[in-house]
Amino acid sequence: MVIVMNTYGETEMKTQARFKIGLVALCFLVMIVWTVAPLWAACPQPRNTQKAPNEFYNMVNPLKPTIENILEGKGLFEEKAKPLACKNCHGINGDGKGIMASGLTPPPREFTCAKTIDGVPDGQLFWIIKNGSPGTGMPSFRGHLEDTQVWQLILYVRKLAQTRIALITGIANQNL
Ligand code: HEC
Repeated sequence: MVIVMNTYGETEMKTQARFKIGLVALCFLVMIVWTVAPLWAACPQPRNTQKAPNEFYNMVNPLKPTIENILEGKGLFEEKAKPLACKNCHGINGDGKGIMASGLTPPPREFTCAKTIDGVPDGQLFWIIKNGSPGTGMPSFRGHLEDTQVWQLILYVRKLAQTRIALITGIANQNL
């Protein structure tokens, strides 16, 4: 058997093993960056959405954040909302990077950023989900979603911001 040595005096097999280990390490690095990158996304996100009329702006969510309500919101967000489920633009994790997001200016709201969304009152979110945000990609869901469903969506959207905090602080989210 002929053992071929390369310039570093290694056998061919050793060189191949080194290459494979390098490749696996690179894949791990890409995976880690992929997972953690959203945490460094612009937060707070610039926000120029029109303010809702006062009678809506001052509304408070009448529903309690029970598991049932949050899960109803999740179902609507991910699949059931017509004409288009929210995840298509806002992303399944609420990071604002859904499959339709890249074509939209301004970009969809990132619900994972508590600094953006926590200061926005329930009534404002309710108004925009009902009426859309004119001149942007955010459609009106009037006639498609009942008020209760809109409030359930708002409970879920607020939960998404807490998930980001949980990721950063390492506290597992027990409920979802
Ligand atoms: C076709 C894309 C698209 C879909 C589908 C979509 N949105 Fe949006 N959404 C946007 C964009 C774009 C904005 C940013 C609007 C702006 O900056 O005024 C936005 C903004 C919002 C806001 C921010 C309101 C504010 O005052 O900051 C809320 C809340 C929201 N969307 C909820 C939803 C919910 C809930 C659904 C599903 C029922 C949904 N969106 C579906 C594109 C979309």
